[in-house]
Amino acid sequence: MCGIVGYIGRNNAKEILLNGLEKLEYRGYDSAGIALLDHEQVTVIKEKGRIADLRKKVGNEAFGEVGIGHTRWATHGKPSEENAHPHQSASGRFVIVHNGVIENYASLKETYLEGALFKSDTDTEVIVQLIEKFAQEGLETKEAIRKTLRLLHGSYAICVIDKNQPDTLFAAKNKSPLLIGTGTNFNVIASDAMAVLKETSEFIEIADEELVILKRDQIEIETLDGEEVERAPFTATIDASDIEKGTYPHYMLKEIDEQPAVMRRIIQAYQNDTGEISVDQAVLDELLASDRVYIIACGTSSHAGYVGKVLIERLAGIPVEVHISSEFGYNMPLLSENPLFLFITQSGETADSRQVLVKVKEMGYRTLTLTNVPGSTLDREADQAMYLHAGPEIAVASTKAYTAQVAVLSILAVAAGRARGNKAAIQFDLVSELGIAATAMEAMVSSKELVEHIAGEFLATTRNAFFIGRSVDYFVAMEAALKLKEISYIQTEGFASGELKHGTIALIEDETPVFAIITQENINWNIRGNVNEVLARGANACIFAMEGLEQPGDQLVLPHVHELLTPLVSVIPCQLLAYYAALHRDCDVDKPRNLAKSVTVE
Ligand code: F6R
Repeated sequence: MCGIVGYIGRNNAKEILLNGLEKLEYRGYDSAGIALLDHEQVTVIKEKGRIADLRKKVGNEAFGEVGIGHTRWATHGKPSEENAHPHQSASGRFVIVHNGVIENYASLKETYLEGALFKSDTDTEVIVQLIEKFAQEGLETKEAIRKTLRLLHGSYAICVIDKNQPDTLFAAKNKSPLLIGTGTNFNVIASDAMAVLKETSEFIEIADEELVILKRDQIEIETLDGEEVERAPFTATIDASDIEKGTYPHYMLKEIDEQPAVMRRIIQAYQNDTGEISVDQAVLDELLASDRVYIIACGTSSHAGYVGKVLIERLAGIPVEVHISSEFGYNMPLLSENPLFLFITQSGETADSRQVLVKVKEMGYRTLTLTNVPGSTLDREADQAMYLHAGPEIAVASTKAYTAQVAVLSILAVAAGRARGNKAAIQFDLVSELGIAATAMEAMVSSKELVEHIAGEFLATTRNAFFIGRSVDYFVAMEAALKLKEISYIQTEGFASGELKHGTIALIEDETPVFAIITQENINWNIRGNVNEVLARGANACIFAMEGLEQPGDQLVLPHVHELLTPLVSVIPCQLLAYYAALHRDCDVDKPRNLAKSVTVE
């Protein structure tokens, strides 16, 4: 989703901004722009489309020791050069980049900016025009910004240039991520540390409703009431090389391949000195004190949540409900007496999930975030956190975060189950079973040739496709369908195989691809019965079955792993299938249309 980079220092900001925007490309965007300030002279360059196009347009000449840059994912106004950021105030004095959504922009425009000339359809332009209006009324820049921010309803991360103060950069945030990066004789601002890792690994967090006044060699943070804030810097643990593609053609393929190594990293991270599974006692206490867990997540993370429900219920004996964040906040079910809210989020920045976090915290409930990004908003704002240790996930289509989520949920379930004296958890040798799963995952990532062939045969030209399964295989079918549709644009449904005949089977026609996932012994024959039903209606069926359950003619045999951990393995050929289907259909695997990596608007 939208990304921000800002720089103030002694070098030409141009290259730093463009590099930063390139690092943010993975988040999804439709246009981009930069503004450079050189002794009260502002140059704004914007372009629809890729950063490479912006780079060409910027050329070699542009210069400024202060600058701001932005990648935009359209919310208000179509993707176009006019709507791309940075936006300038009417006189050109103020320039802004903004992430987030200003909910009351229309009423602000009506109340304060009657007659003002607007050049874009964005909510952002209202912010910069308001700053200018208050500055023209006599307020100092930081006061004008402060006054504007107090009027805004919604989410924002902003970075502002004032032409009349060429030695200062202003920044602020509310509900959208933004960080200060520090250096010698320079400072940077970024919505994601990855954008500026080349410049620095030292960062300072900005809290909601704080204003930052940044100079080359000075950082001031103040609340909106003008109180000074002192905050120590922290060192980012991600390595710049973690976010490079290396020899891989796509980040998605690299991340699929990384999954066995991530498993091993997770096993290590959650093991104590005696080699036993170990979870932070405070996290465990929260879980043990709860009478019901409410898993709140979106997309792929919610699919991992469904598997987590099975794991926690079977191994810890605690009831679990899984809810989609965007629904839960606005249609809350009756809650149990002592709920624990478990947020599953790769990025830790998903606005739909965060709005639930804010609501349930206001209601006084306890919260736990499971995230891949330490320091992210949901990490900081929840009472407790657990980490995925998957390393940066760059491809829009989530792969290694999903398997990491399932693995960490299994660890949480076993730790809680053991603490509750649950026999199933005590007898489950999870360290060893996760190790076996990691080896099975290795075999699966090596099955590329076979899966590429299947993708060519089943998906090269099809209009639609189905994934079916029962129990945990149904949850993997949902994830497989999401993966395929989001990067290959094939209309795909993940379905509980027994439910097909209750309506959806009407969509099966000659050659419709139906992928069946079979990893559970107790439902092997039920699913095969459902496969026969679709075969009888002309479908092109393809079966992925676990070793021991396979039948002649099945297309792919998954190495045997513990029945509760099968999603770790069965999801991999599905990820590869999506990858190769997208390649067959000439789709941009890492940057699928209309999508963003980190969805920071509701
Ligand atoms: C799909 C995908 C999305 C995310 C969803 C939640 O491949 O990546 O469905 O899973 O947007 O994102 P996080 O986990 O960052 O909250």
